[in-house]
Amino acid sequence: MTDRHSIKVNGQTHAVTTSSDRPLLDVLREDLGLTGTKYGCGEGECGACTVLIDGVATRSCITSVEEVADASVETIEGLAGDELHPVQQAFIDQRAMQCGYCVPGQVMNAVGLLREKPHATEAEIVEAMSGNLCRCCNYRNLRAAVLQATR
Ligand code: FES
Repeated sequence: MTDRHSIKVNGQTHAVTTSSDRPLLDVLREDLGLTGTKYGCGEGECGACTVLIDGVATRSCITSVEEVADASVETIEGLAGDELHPVQQAFIDQRAMQCGYCVPGQVMNAVGLLREKPHATEAEIVEAMSGNLCRCCNYRNLRAAVLQATR
């Protein structure tokens, strides 16, 4: 059964007609054309689909569209203004991208962490980022990028 849902993404409200249990990730990518958020495992294990929901890093593949009815969703497309977000710039500076597939999820997770803890320690960064997998195993540079963004 389909219902009409109103979801707020990157400051804009969208009306979407879909089933209530459909993953937010699918709605973002297929209905709203926001393909920066990636599909990895579809099971909440890899972090590729991470977005911010009311400022909290959340896996959009296991979050239904119904669950974000009254929430504010932020995706990688909404992060930069006239300039890159400091986390995005840090990823470039620290060469934290190889194939790049996991990067939107990594960036959104890091932004969520730094909103909560702007001066997170290296240990806190390692802990918070540990659930976001990088198939290129570029973890050292990813850690350096998040650390740069704390300064
Ligand atoms: Fe959502 Fe892997 S695609 S956690």
